Amino acid sequence: MPETTPSDGLTLPRIGFGTAMLKGRPGAEAVGSALRAGYRLIDSAFNYENEGAVGAAVRASDVPRDEVIVTSKLPGRHHAHDAAIAAVEESVYRTGLDHLDLYLIHWPNPSQYRYVEAWEALIHARERGLVRAIGVSNFLPEHIDRLVEATGVVPAVNQVELHPYFPQDEQRAYDASRGIVTEAWSPIGRAGEMLRDPVLTQVANAHGASVAEVILAWHARLGVVPLPKATAPDRQRQNLSAVDLELLDADVDAIASLARPDGRNNDQDPAVYEEF
Ligand SMILES: NC(=O)c1ccc[n+]([C@@H]2O[C@H](COP(=O)([O-])OP(=O)(O)OC[C@H]3O[C@@H](n4cnc5c(N)ncnc54)[C@H](OP(=O)(O)O)[C@@H]3O)[C@@H](O)[C@H]2O)c1
Repeated sequence: MPETTPSDGLTLPRIGFGTAMLKGRPGAEAVGSALRAGYRLIDSAFNYENEGAVGAAVRASDVPRDEVIVTSKLPGRHHAHDAAIAAVEESVYRTGLDHLDLYLIHWPNPSQYRYVEAWEALIHARERGLVRAIGVSNFLPEHIDRLVEATGVVPAVNQVELHPYFPQDEQRAYDASRGIVTEAWSPIGRAGEMLRDPVLTQVANAHGASVAEVILAWHARLGVVPLPKATAPDRQRQNLSAVDLELLDADVDAIASLARPDGRNNDQDPAVYEEF
């Protein structure tokens, strides 16, 4: 698979695999089939309660361990330094692996205002070899500025909600200015109304592709790493190959017209939304 931006010692593929709701044996089977299909970046989180399933799939896979980037995320309730270190230890333990490759602060939770402390803990976890690279999720520029001012350490990745209805132009520009890779969560809008959007349907028909493929090709075109979640192997393969679909400039312009200020799926604005 073609690769993109090297960051914090990692080279990320152009697309990864989302795993929210994929748990237990069926979850491990879905992750196993994603690895067989060719995914090499697997997203997970302490709060998804599926690090065990993800780790089991990675361990059972024929893919060499050092070719897979296994990601997890720190929950809001564990931002205090020692609690954060313990959470990373627990994440690694749950996977049955000896380290994770990428660990993100899941949400900044600004009212707690402990994300700088959590960031210091992730720096220590990296120094101890528990994780290879560290980053953030749902961080606004002001949050990232504070991390860098306090520690001098820039996140490798910022994982945010990003799709045609909410393309995050300013956040992407900010991330790029800091050399941060932007990953996209809910890249196909959780398969909601976006998959029936008339503009996207027109572009898809012109390319003989599905709307999901067009959306993921658009992410790749923006230089964003989408993390679609798909249970069925045929959808996993379809999504993976989508990043090779070449959109026309006119397609990209048409998709840009779909952006709307209230385009978030569930109104989860990191300035106020918090998750523990
Ligand atoms: N950092 C954060 O705060 C955060 C928040 C949300 C999500 N995430 C991460 O981002 C990942 C992706 O986001 P998401 O799961 O919310 O939404 P998503 O990937 O946009 O959409 C997933 C839905 O799309 C369906 N689907 C997948 N491929 C399809 C295709 N080719 N055609 C039609 N339908 C298709 C899936 O169905 P099936 O599964 O039934 O195949 C599932 O219902 C998550 O799994 C998680 O890893 C992170």
